[in-house]
Amino acid sequence: MPPSDGMISRKTVLKAAAALGVAPLLIGGGVALAREQAGSGQAPGLTPDCHDGDDPTIEQIEGPYFKPNSPLRSSMVNDGPGTRLTVSGYVFGRACLPISGVLLDFWQADDGGNYDNVGFTFRGHQFTDANGAYKLDTIVPGLYPGRTRHLHVKVQAPGRSILTTQLYFPGEPRNNTDTIYDPRLLMNVRQNGQVREASFDFVLDVPQTPGTPSPTPTPTATPTGGPTTPPSGTWAPGKAYNAGDRVTYSGVSYVCLQAHTSMVGWEPPNVPALWQRS
Ligand SMILES: [Fe+2]
Repeated sequence: MPPSDGMISRKTVLKAAAALGVAPLLIGGGVALAREQAGSGQAPGLTPDCHDGDDPTIEQIEGPYFKPNSPLRSSMVNDGPGTRLTVSGYVFGRACLPISGVLLDFWQADDGGNYDNVGFTFRGHQFTDANGAYKLDTIVPGLYPGRTRHLHVKVQAPGRSILTTQLYFPGEPRNNTDTIYDPRLLMNVRQNGQVREASFDFVLDVPQTPGTPSPTPTPTATPTGGPTTPPSGTWAPGKAYNAGDRVTYSGVSYVCLQAHTSMVGWEPPNVPALWQRS
């Protein structure tokens, strides 16, 4: 659907409803999100930066430093050096409805521009909450040769394919010379005391029916296991699985790649980020 003049998008309403924080001091320009304008005694403004039918968030290369099995956590902060950074926002589908239970797997360089390829420093995954929101506590990633400042992330709605992309910071000199950089992936960033607060909303290529009251994942028919094999096995929704756990589903064995609590729509064949056929 094309953007509709004079009509408030669902995303805008959601942002206004979720408004919190203090008046923003934006770094390097950018559009203030409505939720950043509350707390100042003013009604949050409307932010017409998303309409039903918005283009999905673009993909970018994974790069050489992704590794599976990141820990389930929303904070990657440790005792090391670095400027504190929060990254928050929502994950939407094509109709600007938020999606709950979306897997976000972040990885980034440390303050010195190095990736931890042995352990899981500055690696972590989380799921959007019932409102489709996420929040990451971390530090500003350091620079390393050949790249501008960036975060890596994989985003996957239940039963959908993985979006691999990167997020960027406004006002970075290297944004002008990094050939991978794309301004469509710029975060809004403001300074709040000692903490840099960034926001970014993902739009996934997930079809949605406008007017649907609940954005929760719909159960997905899983065709694996052959047409005569009904879905069955040891996998069950609502269970806490750890990396390395093994289950069967429709006669196929899977090993768990990342700790998570299972849910309908997250059946092993649907979520390659969580379950690997074994
Ligand atoms: Fe990187």
